[in-house]
Amino acid sequence: MDLKNYIADVEDFPKKGILFRDITPLMNDGKAFAYATNEFVNFAKQVDAEIVVGPEARGFIFGCPVATTLNIGFAPVRKPGKLPREVITAEYDLEYGSNTLCMHRDAIAPGQRVLIVDDLLATGGTVEATIDLVEQLGGIVVGLAFLIELTDLNGRDKLNGYETLTLMQY
Ligand code: PRP
Ligand code: HPA
Repeated sequence: MDLKNYIADVEDFPKKGILFRDITPLMNDGKAFAYATNEFVNFAKQVDAEIVVGPEARGFIFGCPVATTLNIGFAPVRKPGKLPREVITAEYDLEYGSNTLCMHRDAIAPGQRVLIVDDLLATGGTVEATIDLVEQLGGIVVGLAFLIELTDLNGRDKLNGYETLTLMQY
C-alpha cells in the first residue's frame, strides 16, 4: 500500500513557508490506518518490545493500537502540568527557546524493552528527549518507529545506534 496517498500536503501551515504533512486522511481510512499500525506491530515483534512509549498528542494515536494489539502496555510522554503523579523531565531545544517533556517516574521498569512510536520525525528533538526520559528510568530503547521522516531536517543524525523504522520519507 502506498501510504503517501493518504497524506495531505498543506502549504503555509502552521506558518507561511511550511509545507505541513497532514496524517489525518490516513487515520480516516480504516485500511490505511490498520496497515500503518500493523507495520509498527511487526517491528515491535522484531525488536521484542515489552512496552510502547509515545509523545503527545500524535504519538498516542499510533502507539496505543500497537500496544493493545500486542497485549503490552503504553506509557505517555506529556507536556508539563498534565501528569498527576511524580514525574521526571527532559528538555529539548527549539529554534528559539526550549520545551520540556515529562513521564511518570514509575512508567517504565528498569531493564524493560521500550519501543518509541510517533507520527513524524522532524528535527529529532522530541524523540531525543523521549529517549532521555526512558533511559533516565533505566529502560532499554530497542526501537523507534515513525510514520513520516522529513529527511531535510536531519533528525536521524540524533538517533545513531537506535534501530529506527520510518514508513515514508519526504
Ligand atoms: C510534532 C510531531 C512530533 C514532533 C516532531 O508534534 O507529532 O511529535 O512534532 O518534531 P521534532 O522531530 O522536530 O521534535 P508537536 O510537538 O507539534 O505536538 P502535537 O503532536 O501535540 O501536535
Ligand atoms: N507535519 C506534521 N507535523 C509536523 C511537521 C509536518 O510537516 N513538522 C513538524 N511537525
